[in-house]
Amino acid sequence: MILLTGATGKTGGAAAKALAQQNAPLRALVRDEQKAAPLAAAGIDLVVGDLTDANSVANALEGVTKALLIVPNSDQQLESEKQFVDCAKKAGVRHIVKLSSMEAVPGATGAIPRIHVESEAHIKQSGMDWTMIRPNFFMQNLLASAGTIKDQKKMFLPMKDGKTGMADIRDIAAVMAAALTQEGHENKSYEVTGPELLTFTQVADHFSDVLGEQIAYIDTPLDAYMKTIAPFLLNEWHVNAITELFAEIAAGGLEHITNTVQKILGREPISLTQFIKDHMAAFKAA
Ligand SMILES: NC(=O)c1ccc[n+]([C@@H]2O[C@H](COP(=O)([O-])OP(=O)(O)OC[C@H]3O[C@@H](n4cnc5c(N)ncnc54)[C@H](OP(=O)(O)O)[C@@H]3O)[C@@H](O)[C@H]2O)c1
Repeated sequence: MILLTGATGKTGGAAAKALAQQNAPLRALVRDEQKAAPLAAAGIDLVVGDLTDANSVANALEGVTKALLIVPNSDQQLESEKQFVDCAKKAGVRHIVKLSSMEAVPGATGAIPRIHVESEAHIKQSGMDWTMIRPNFFMQNLLASAGTIKDQKKMFLPMKDGKTGMADIRDIAAVMAAALTQEGHENKSYEVTGPELLTFTQVADHFSDVLGEQIAYIDTPLDAYMKTIAPFLLNEWHVNAITELFAEIAAGGLEHITNTVQKILGREPISLTQFIKDHMAAFKAA
């Protein structure tokens, strides 16, 4: 039995879909049974619980041999991940696949990369097998700019000339699914990227080409940008942590592409052009 966490979220949802298509025996730990109804419809057992509650985590882990650990960023993230790992070890889980981040390198100073570095270390020390999935920037983050792309033909971000090798979460999920269902991925770290290194001006150019209308990248001062998104973040910790991440991207912290998708999945990674085509309704006014 494979236990999924984060299965009602972006990467976890995509991983659940990929694994359900392979008929893997799946259980998901979810907070809201109604929100998780599509998972149940796909044949996934649901256990209602919360990652901050050790009893519900232990309950969800009964009889589980492999687990996918996806926890969103918060000042509780590290504690929840460590608690999950300790419960998993007790429950006899053999292999944990963790969603980490490409920015989680030794010596990282940002709060979120440091959480991933410490969580990875805790998993490695547990004695269970592990696979670290370490993606670049998600293409799906661009959906947050869909409103301004559609209405103003502009995307506002604070990335300066920083490049990313952004990856589609469908590729990240497919690599996770491979790590959970195939042999040979134990005790390996996979940096997952898309096929191209792009500045956000080049990202806007891709939108212009696919949408057939000029889309401009408007580089926005980091402070001003954070003021506009702060109401959507959890608290001051989260605002500071995301500010650090964006500053790091602007400084070139994600300028790296890999051939992980080709090696693990035997095909090319999904391109930005394909991602935009697949989300045309979100980005282009009807
Ligand atoms: N965005 C990027 O570009 C990027 C790049 C590299 C790595 N990452 C990493 O990706 C991770 C986030 O993944 P994501 O974007 O797929 O997450 P997401 O879409 O925000 O989904 C979070 C999931 O976790 C669940 N969850 C939240 N709190 C929970 C709790 N207390 N107990 C049980 N479940 C809980 C949510 O359930 P509900 O539906 O109930 O809320 C949801 O299923 C972070 O660790 C981040 O560092 C992100």
